[in-house]
Amino acid sequence: MHEWLHRLDQQFPVRYTVWLLCGIGLLLFSFTFVAFGSGGFAALACLFLVGLGWRDTRQRRHSVLRNYPVIGHLRFLMEFVRIEIRQYFIEADNEATPFSRQQRSLVYQRAKGAPDKRPFGTQLDVHASGYEWINHSMNPSVLATHDFRVAIGAGGTSCTQPYEASIFNISAMSFGALSANAIRALNAGAKKGGFAHDTGEGSISEHHRAHGGDLIWEIGSGYFGCRNDDGSFSEAKFVANAASPQVKMIELKLSQGAKPGHGGVLPGPKVTAEIAAARGVPVGTDCVSPARHGVFNTPVEMMLFIERLRQLSGGKPTGFKLCIGHPWEWFGVAKAMLETGIVPDFIVVDGGEGGTGAAPLEFTDHVGAPLQEGLLLVHNTLVGLGLRQRVRIGCAGKVVGAFDIARAMALGADWCNAARGFMFALGCIQAQTCHTGACPTGVTTQDPQRQKALVVVDKTERVWRFHQHTLEALKELVQAAGLHHPNEITAAHIVRRRADHAVRLLANELKFVKPGELLAAIEGRAAWPHSVFELYWPLARSDSFEPVRSDSFEPVRSDSFEPVRSDSFVPARSDSFEPVRSDSFEPARSDSFEPVRSDSFEPARSDSFEPVSAASLEPVARTAAA
Ligand SMILES: Cc1cc2nc3c(=O)[nH]c(=O)nc-3n(C[C@H](O)[C@H](O)[C@H](O)COP(=O)(O)O)c2cc1C
Repeated sequence: MHEWLHRLDQQFPVRYTVWLLCGIGLLLFSFTFVAFGSGGFAALACLFLVGLGWRDTRQRRHSVLRNYPVIGHLRFLMEFVRIEIRQYFIEADNEATPFSRQQRSLVYQRAKGAPDKRPFGTQLDVHASGYEWINHSMNPSVLATHDFRVAIGAGGTSCTQPYEASIFNISAMSFGALSANAIRALNAGAKKGGFAHDTGEGSISEHHRAHGGDLIWEIGSGYFGCRNDDGSFSEAKFVANAASPQVKMIELKLSQGAKPGHGGVLPGPKVTAEIAAARGVPVGTDCVSPARHGVFNTPVEMMLFIERLRQLSGGKPTGFKLCIGHPWEWFGVAKAMLETGIVPDFIVVDGGEGGTGAAPLEFTDHVGAPLQEGLLLVHNTLVGLGLRQRVRIGCAGKVVGAFDIARAMALGADWCNAARGFMFALGCIQAQTCHTGACPTGVTTQDPQRQKALVVVDKTERVWRFHQHTLEALKELVQAAGLHHPNEITAAHIVRRRADHAVRLLANELKFVKPGELLAAIEGRAAWPHSVFELYWPLARSDSFEPVRSDSFEPVRSDSFEPVRSDSFVPARSDSFEPVRSDSFEPARSDSFEPVRSDSFEPARSDSFEPVSAASLEPVARTAAA
């Protein structure tokens, strides 16, 4: 500050200048009004601002306003429109917050049936770390349909009503988180396109039933739709709902990626009569989803509960959804499968990058394994235990485009779900006000006026088109790769640029376990396929979610916060599911994606564009799943 300004400030705070100008304006315009009969409105406006400044200096909530009367309101105004200004004027097309403009535009265009082609070439930096592509063929295939399906429940369990699901479905979102009109449009779109609509843990409402689209009924820890008054599981109510022919599968929810281990509350004022009826809870009282289930306390009990649900549902495919946390808990569940012989028909893996209606920032940002790591661990475990053929794997986590689906399938998924992708199809503009009830597009509000903005007939078409056009795009990718179904895409088809600028096949970059390899290691016939198994499998228990000897993780030292022998539990790379020795899939040249012995991945044939043995392209992934 200049010296003169400093001296002035000591006599009269310079930050009051705008307030002072309002006062001067008030005097001037009052004078012109009295003398010439004009300027009355300006005088009133100045009077208002002077009063506002007076109030600002006296209120106690906002320090900024106390120090900067009148002008300080600009800060709140800017903050109010910040997201819009950022989205419309500042944000780069590829900047994901959490979804980039480009990702949203793709969904909007596909949903509207507008051209989704791009001129001029990619906007991505193909040399950036993490850039990925799928290898294409010189001999593209020609496919008759984009309606790719996966049979769920055909794995030899007690399931008697397997479901031929689309490989792209609507992920769990409850009525309560979404508006009635949003649920109606999603379900009607699912009906039209022959794909599935997951109810979310808020159970089945009249809006889910109105159009008859296939439902995956999600059972959360609140047992909504199948609970007694005290919140415990009601067998009779479960049977009544599960018997509906519209319900195709039963999904037990353990956790979701955005807030695993957290549970949730729908506040009483939001529990309307419709929501209460769907969930089987009283109107107007807080509707709580506990963080943990009350029906089972151990992995074995969980498997028994899954079998019970499958039997009670009349043999419908029954599985569970989770975001991976402690590896020993997941391994405990896998041990329970081996011990009881009960396997779920499917497992849906949600990534830590997943969405929610509302969650604490610490949970959305720092709890739960991201999709790649979670999916890979589940896939590898099932492959290694020889269970992969019996259990289908679905996944969710920022899947909006065909390449996202292809990539997830390369990592081991049999199908993908999208939540926010379908919200965009409904018209969501990523205003991120889902938790306030003030959704500008009527997608996540219970306000009857606001949800009128969402016209069900129109948005039904959009939901349907988004699904159709995404799968058409996937068909084109599969054709370009010379394959015949997305489930043929493996990690050997996708290449990624690493931070050191070298590029690697995902099959070389990530660890894929061979069929039966984990069983062999457990029985001592082979080495552990990866340190995550070596470290955590022995700790996992089928009779408890606690690890064996959990105390040995943190031996106490009075002189330090560090454990005594922290290294004893730290494998070479405990921070990652990546292999310690990635050389098992690694061709000898890390400076190139061409293997030295290219025959191991791509044995050449002069008489065909096909590799000699397609199986050799699938070091682990799909061979086990086929
Ligand atoms: C508004 C909203 C509500 C959700 N409600 C549920 C729910 O009830 N149960 C559940 O398992 N997941 C719920 N999810 C998580 C999604 O089903 C999905 O797993 C996650 O958002 C990742 O998918 P996405 O990246 O395509 O959004 C919700 C997500 C959103 C955005």
